[in-house]
Amino acid sequence: MGEDAILQRDTLAVPVTIRLCRETDLPALEWFGEFTPHREIIRRTFATQARGDGSMVLADVNGFPAGQVWIDYERKRHLRRATIWAVRVFPAFRRCGIGTRLMLAAERLVTARGVDEIELGIDRDNLGVIHFYERLGYEPSGTERGTYSYRTPDGRTVDVAIDQILLHKRLNDRHTRHAAQ
Ligand SMILES: CC(C)(COP(=O)(O)OP(=O)(O)OC[C@H]1O[C@@H](n2cnc3c(N)ncnc32)[C@H](O)[C@@H]1OP(=O)(O)O)[C@@H](O)C(=O)NCCC(=O)NCCS
Repeated sequence: MGEDAILQRDTLAVPVTIRLCRETDLPALEWFGEFTPHREIIRRTFATQARGDGSMVLADVNGFPAGQVWIDYERKRHLRRATIWAVRVFPAFRRCGIGTRLMLAAERLVTARGVDEIELGIDRDNLGVIHFYERLGYEPSGTERGTYSYRTPDGRTVDVAIDQILLHKRLNDRHTRHAAQ
């Protein structure tokens, strides 16, 4: 008998907790080095959460942040809009529903703050992901260009050009509002 025939395919239930980021999560958010260059961004965003102007929503799988969605209440507060960014699920955990659960949790948090519109940007070289957001009711609302900079842990300054399609969703559904309470 070949070894493949001896082995098996199985489906396991994995416990997932959707919760806010804690300071002790910050090293693991670097995902084994992939996001180490973003350490400054991660810490800056945690500080934003600590002063109440943002939320870092995590999908915790056995203590590992398998996915995340960040909410910025500050950037477009003047337009009464929350901005969602850094939506990502660790590759091995994709297409299991974690991204959807994170987005729905983020919507409940935004609604609970009395903000009824969410905006997010998709990089032009990642347009395939639009289906993920369309399934959740997001619609195109414009484009945005700009730049941002960050310093890596080894002291390099990285300048990044932003060229995004914007999507938005209004959260005026009574059921969403109810679920947030
Ligand atoms: C986008 C992302 C967060 C979705 O997380 P996820 O946990 O895989 O999402 P879910 O399992 O809840 O939903 C999966 C559904 O979203 C859609 N989807 C997700 N990623 C997609 C992609 N790249 N292209 C097309 N559809 C996609 C599919 O319809 C999929 O359903 P299916 O498996 O039945 O076809 C994840 O794929 C990811 O981290 N991608 C890389 C980072 C990224 O591009 N983030 C978005 C930045 S704007």
